[in-house]
Amino acid sequence: MIRSVVRGTGSALPRRIMKNADFEGMVETSDEWIAQRTGIRQRYIAADDETTASLGEAAARAALKNAGLTPDDIDLIVLATSTPNNTFPATAVEIQQRLGMRHGFAFDMQAVCSGFVYAMTTADLYIRGGAARRVLVIGSETFSRLLDWTDRSTCVLFGDGAGALVLEAGEGQGTIADRGVLASSLRSDGSHREKLYVDGGPSTTGTVGHLRMEGREVFKHAVGMITDVIEATFTQAGITADDLDWFVPHQANKRIIDASAKKLGIADEKVVVTVDLHGNTSAASVPLALSIAVADGRIKPGDLVLLEAMGGGFTWGAVLIRW
Ligand code: ACO
Repeated sequence: MIRSVVRGTGSALPRRIMKNADFEGMVETSDEWIAQRTGIRQRYIAADDETTASLGEAAARAALKNAGLTPDDIDLIVLATSTPNNTFPATAVEIQQRLGMRHGFAFDMQAVCSGFVYAMTTADLYIRGGAARRVLVIGSETFSRLLDWTDRSTCVLFGDGAGALVLEAGEGQGTIADRGVLASSLRSDGSHREKLYVDGGPSTTGTVGHLRMEGREVFKHAVGMITDVIEATFTQAGITADDLDWFVPHQANKRIIDASAKKLGIADEKVVVTVDLHGNTSAASVPLALSIAVADGRIKPGDLVLLEAMGGGFTWGAVLIRW
């Protein structure tokens, strides 16, 4: 059977680092409060000339280089983002043009922080359906443009960045020993809209709007939703938490990551954590964390890797991959 195998990963970050202490003159907060409640110590903030398209392009180029491929080898680009350069055309198409690709097709996918797991699942279905052989899956965000910089309960949590990987059709035997995407599970429930949303948009206010969040409410639902969807993925694949080599969760809050890993029985040393360095980069957080753990040699071919995310909507999902 066809399996969607990861060929290479890459990432890109804005030039400017913003430390927790940099907020102290802007809103009433402290490095200690932010670090204790979230695990975040710094985040990267895009300059005017750094956009979702430029960061996504840089991450895509790094993933192509890591895979030993060129844009000519790619059939499809799926970009997970909630912060497109423009309302339309899709930023994926802009990245396609920036890469010099005049063939194939490209589209954006919007599932907020779950965007990358939605995009991976979609790319896997295109590959297994035979509609694409190689797919660039990118998560790129400039959430700093959506923040209300006077709201201390949200502005300290988010950052900008991009991560990407190349998925390629490979041969498998249909067992969990195969390399590639082995299982995935997606969920959404629009009844939670008011807990995490942006208060603007083209069809309502005609503005971009600002991110609004009831942090405590999001926290309350997060662990249960994350563990449900992961258990569904385990059941699909016929594995348990003990079989995992690496857990690469959405990087929103260290306390949510720790509580989810604990509930699932995943050992601390198997959890990839980058929230301290990047803050919450929404759809970019999982591919950024992945590319760091691949680059530093933690994730190796043959490892069993679980990706997970939860975000606005609510949306949530998990993807299991044999690296
Ligand atoms: N600095 C100092 N104090 C603050 C700050 C801040 N930056 N932000 C809020 N506070 C205050 C509040 O005003 C409140 O004060 P009060 O008690 O006088 O009213 C107090 O701190 C406690 O506020 P809570 O919201 O109850 O704090 P909590 O412990 O829940 O931590 C946090 C807040 C960090 C936002 C937490 O709820 C959280 O992480 N929630 C999940 C958020 C999340 O992960 N969102 C993203 C997931 S989806 C996506 O990625 C898009």
